[in-house]
Amino acid sequence: MADWDTIWINANLATMAGTGMPYGKIENGAIAAKCDRIVWVGSMDALTGKPDTLANHVVDIAGKWVTPGLIDCHTHLVFGGSRASEFEQRLQGVSYEEIARAGGGIVSTMTATREASEEALVRASLPRLSNLIREGCTTVEIKSGYGLEKSAEIKQLSVARTLGESLPVNVQTTFLGAHALPPEFKGRQADYIEQVIEEMMPAVAESGTADAVDAFCESIGFTAAETEAVFKSAQAHDLPVKLHAEQLSDLGGAALAARFGALSADHLEFVSEDSVLAMAAAGTVAVVLPGAFYILRETQLPPIDLFRKHGVDIAIASDFNPGSSPVPSLLLMLNMSCTLFRMTPEEALAGATRNAAKALGLAADRGTLEVGKRADLAIWNIGQPAELAYWAGYNPLHTLIHDGTAIDFDAQLVSPGLAA
Ligand code: NIG
Ligand code: FE
Repeated sequence: MADWDTIWINANLATMAGTGMPYGKIENGAIAAKCDRIVWVGSMDALTGKPDTLANHVVDIAGKWVTPGLIDCHTHLVFGGSRASEFEQRLQGVSYEEIARAGGGIVSTMTATREASEEALVRASLPRLSNLIREGCTTVEIKSGYGLEKSAEIKQLSVARTLGESLPVNVQTTFLGAHALPPEFKGRQADYIEQVIEEMMPAVAESGTADAVDAFCESIGFTAAETEAVFKSAQAHDLPVKLHAEQLSDLGGAALAARFGALSADHLEFVSEDSVLAMAAAGTVAVVLPGAFYILRETQLPPIDLFRKHGVDIAIASDFNPGSSPVPSLLLMLNMSCTLFRMTPEEALAGATRNAAKALGLAADRGTLEVGKRADLAIWNIGQPAELAYWAGYNPLHTLIHDGTAIDFDAQLVSPGLAA
C-alpha cells in the first residue's frame, strides 16, 4: 500500500497560492491527496518516486489544468417562487427600488418562501445548487433572508444545511434576518430590528444553523445604526459578520462592517475611498457581484482600482437570487467581472477561489492548492487559466474532486429545473 490515496499526474496547476508566479502556476506538475486533504503539490520532476509507488490511484490528466474548487461566497439560492414578472416590469422601466417600495421585490419572495414547506424548498434548491457544482463549485454560501420571521428564517437555514448534506459540496450558511422589512412591521422598522436581535438571533445561534450574519444596509433596507445593532448581537453570539453595503447608495456600511472586523462587504458600487481604507485596515474582503450589476443594468462601477490601490482582496460571487441576480453560474461571473468590472482573468479566478475562501473565513482550509488544505480540485479542459474567464456561457469542466473524491455528476447531482 502506498501512502497517498490518489495522485493526479501530468497536470498543469493554477494553485492560486501566492508563489509570485501568475496564478501560482506549476506547469507539468502533480498533486496528491490522502483522505480529504492535499498532501503533495509540485512539479513532476520533484516527485520522489514513481507515481504508483506513492499513491494507490494514479490519474494521468494529460496536460489539463487544475484549479482549486471554485467558491461561490454569496448566494440566496433557497427561495420560493420566481420574479420573472418583475423582470418584465423592470424592462418596461420600473426600477428595482420602486418595485421594492411597492411591496414587491424581496417581500414577494418572502411570501412564496414562507408558504413553501421545507421539503419543497429542498426540492427546488437541489437543481440550483447542482448547477453551481457542475461548473466547478465545491463550496457555496447560502443566505436566509426570505423568511423574515423566526421559524421561516430557520427553515431556510435548515434547508441550506440539508442541501450541504445531500450534495457533494461544502455549504456555508448566513443568517440575513435584516434583509427587508416584512409587511406586518410596516412603519415599525425599529420593532422589527428588535425582533431580529431579541428573538431571531438567539434562536438561530441556538439552532446552530448559521455560520455568519449578514444585513442589507441600504435606503430600501436598514440604516447603519440598525445594522450596527444587528452586528453587536451577532458578536454577542460569536457569529462573524458580513454586509450588503453600498449597492445603490453610500450609507457608510462598508466602514461600519470593517469596524466589526467583517469577513466581507459585498456589492460596493457606491463605496467611498475612506471606507475602502477602513476595509483594508480590517482585512475585510470586497465581494463584487457582477450578476446583480448586469441584471439591474446598473451604471456605477465598483471601484476596483481603489481596492487594488489599498490592497483590499477582491472576491466575486453570483449573488444568485430570484430578483437582482437570477444567475446560478459562477463561471459567468468570472467573465462578467472582467468584461464589466475590468478585472483581470487572474483577479477573477482569485476572486472565485482564494479570496472567496477568505470572505467566508475559510482561508486556512480552502481556496488554494496547497498541502494541508482540502482536496477540492477542479480539472478543466482548457489550454490556459484565462480561458475560465474568457468563455461565456460555456463550461469546460472535466472532473470535480470534492474532499479527495471525484464527483459522479449523473449519480450525485440533480438535473436542471430552476423554478420552485
Ligand atoms: O444581494 N440586495 C439585497 N439582496 C439581494 C437581492 C435579493 C432580492 O432581490 O431578492 C442582492 O442583490
Ligand atoms: Fe445578495
